[in-house]
Amino acid sequence: MLDTPIVAVAGATSKQGRSVVRSLLQGGGYRVRALTRDPASQVAQSLERQGAELVAGSLSLGSDDAWVDAFSGARAAFLVTPPTPPRGSREYELGCRIADAAVRAGVEHVVFSALENVDETTGGKLFAPHFTDKARVAEYISGLPVASTFVILSFFYTNLMEYYVPRVEDGSLVLPIYLPEDFRAPFVDPVTATGPAVREIISKPERYDGETLPIVGDVISPREMVRTFQDVTGLRAEYRDAFTYDGLARNFPELVADDLHAQEILGMVNYAVEYGYFRQDRDLEWSRSIDPEALTWEQFLRATGWRGEARSYG
Ligand SMILES: NC(=O)c1ccc[n+]([C@@H]2O[C@H](COP(=O)([O-])OP(=O)(O)OC[C@H]3O[C@@H](n4cnc5c(N)ncnc54)[C@H](OP(=O)(O)O)[C@@H]3O)[C@@H](O)[C@H]2O)c1
Repeated sequence: MLDTPIVAVAGATSKQGRSVVRSLLQGGGYRVRALTRDPASQVAQSLERQGAELVAGSLSLGSDDAWVDAFSGARAAFLVTPPTPPRGSREYELGCRIADAAVRAGVEHVVFSALENVDETTGGKLFAPHFTDKARVAEYISGLPVASTFVILSFFYTNLMEYYVPRVEDGSLVLPIYLPEDFRAPFVDPVTATGPAVREIISKPERYDGETLPIVGDVISPREMVRTFQDVTGLRAEYRDAFTYDGLARNFPELVADDLHAQEILGMVNYAVEYGYFRQDRDLEWSRSIDPEALTWEQFLRATGWRGEARSYG
């Protein structure tokens, strides 16, 4: 047991983090140290019941000593940065400092949840700092004296439950989606798909050192999503545009209340539509090849029993 390698997970209660904890513990062969601000929370407690060791600490700047403690003795670390609104965002510094702490603690392999560099790809035309900052963190980590691998999650199916929640209108469910109706984009369930991919990477550090790997569950358009939703739930449903500024403002006024936030959402979706969510050279088949069970949209709807209500993952 004492020889069993430890993996530290920063952001362990996040949708991605809890998936990684579960896969590492269920598959056997690893001990897991789970970093959370609140070890008494329901999600943290469920991670502990699965066998994780909980360590208290926040993913906010200035917590370096707590991170070093959490990473000490770990062979590998999986790092997720919390969702950050663009105004005053310090996500780049946060990601870099957490990675520095992992290196200081002697971790041999860092796996960071990144996104593509929208600034570079669009020549500065589109604004999506929560993408670009993660890509810059990945670049920074690549220069550190540690093996490193980056995963890039597709759009989360759960966005429709947490942020773009449907509503009932004239007896029919309205699904406002932040993409054009016929645009096929990559989607994934972060809660079940992150773990198998990260477990595979952590089990073969030499093979995956320096790689950036997409995690994809389905490539699907809003029209197809709504049709499948109707087929699976038996509910009448229709697409609404939350892709243009007016559509977003009409359906989710709270999301455009901060102009910079609105600019970022529109920057992100326009980037996905005009340039593709993933860089052209990414291997979109990799995650399915190592995890054929990754949920498609239809399987996700059946597995979760979601019928359009708001759901929280906190
Ligand atoms: N939505 C998408 O489509 C999508 C796609 C790809 C990537 N992403 C990226 O995924 C990341 C979020 O991952 P997720 O959705 O898995 O996370 P999440 O479920 O929103 O959870 C974020 C976690 O951060 C932890 N945290 C620690 N310190 C925090 C602090 N000071 N403030 C806020 N949270 C703190 C929280 O854990 P405790 O409360 O236990 O401390 C929480 O569990 C974001 O960076 C986002 O950009 C999102």
